[in-house]
Amino acid sequence: MANGPPQVVSTSLSMEDVFEAYRNDLEEIEAHIRQNLDSEAPLINEIAAHILSSGGKRIRPLLLSLCARLNGYDPKEDLVLGSLIEFIHTATLLHDDVLDEADLRRGQQTARRIWGNHASILVGDYLYSRAMQQIAAFQNHEVNDVMAIACRKMAEGEILQLCATRQPLLTETDYLRIVEYKTGALVASACKVGAIIGGTSPAQQKGLYQFGLYLGIAFQLADDLLDYTANGDNLGKALGQDLMQGMITLPLLHLLRSCSVEERQDLVQKIESKSIEEKDLLKITTMMARYGSLEYTTRRSQEYIDAALLNLAPFEDSSAKRALTVVADYMVNRDR
Ligand code: IPE
Ligand code: IPE
Ligand code: MG
Ligand code: MG
Repeated sequence: MANGPPQVVSTSLSMEDVFEAYRNDLEEIEAHIRQNLDSEAPLINEIAAHILSSGGKRIRPLLLSLCARLNGYDPKEDLVLGSLIEFIHTATLLHDDVLDEADLRRGQQTARRIWGNHASILVGDYLYSRAMQQIAAFQNHEVNDVMAIACRKMAEGEILQLCATRQPLLTETDYLRIVEYKTGALVASACKVGAIIGGTSPAQQKGLYQFGLYLGIAFQLADDLLDYTANGDNLGKALGQDLMQGMITLPLLHLLRSCSVEERQDLVQKIESKSIEEKDLLKITTMMARYGSLEYTTRRSQEYIDAALLNLAPFEDSSAKRALTVVADYMVNRDR
């Protein structure tokens, strides 16, 4: 298959197999990303290149391309659109690291650490608007609509999260809405844009949006778990960041509702008074293991993956469909 679409043949595949099968596409996406680093303001190119070349997983462009090929069609604009969605994702990371006061991402110093918060915010804004400008050039009303909604929801999600900081009474429903907006919306949109340019029916587009939404939610649940349990070297981010920043994510939320009254009072006091220190992290993670909070988070994220996969049922077996099931599994079974 020298010139045909990438093939994933076996049924017991790893994520490495998928990355390998789509290597040419992923390389082309990288080339599109580099081409767009062409601002007249050199600092923009420098900061954007720093984060864009630091080794992101490129999950969103990959999902877009796979969804675009589910019906056997081999579009070319999927790779450009994927690179633009990665620009938007990168913008959210630049902003997110400012909000979370993060010093490390993808094993490197964050842009805000090197160039400061102001430059990070402005370059994030640039990447957002550059991507939306390029997306608009496709003159596809449906694609514009999906992307504009995703950007709006991501901003809403981050604001909702800001308002939920250090709020130990946060409910699981509120938490899931934050996750849906800040992370689910973009993954869902990547899948729907793929569905649109892949020429699927409106019902299939809706199904693939739902597929991406559940995948995105599961992905963030896994990320929130990794914040407590990961190996810091693999993760490339500082552990315990959410706890230190007063972010009530699912493992902590579950712990707060499962532990004893005394333990709860102690935890709430620490969260509200910003007195959590690094030494508390191990203690709290141990409690999470004891009360089943880590297991609960794993189970919930797997439930979302299972629900996501139901949306692939209407599609015939294909290389892209097999690859999507592997990516779905990887969303929650990963170490970074
Ligand atoms: C990080 O996203 C932010 C979340 C939504 C959890 P990724 O884990 O996709 O980040 P990179 O691009 O691979 O670094
Ligand atoms: C993801 O949330 C934020 C975005 C959607 C940008 P996190 O704050 O958990 O992401 P990381 O852990 O910093 O990558
Ligand atoms: Mg963060
Ligand atoms: Mg995180």
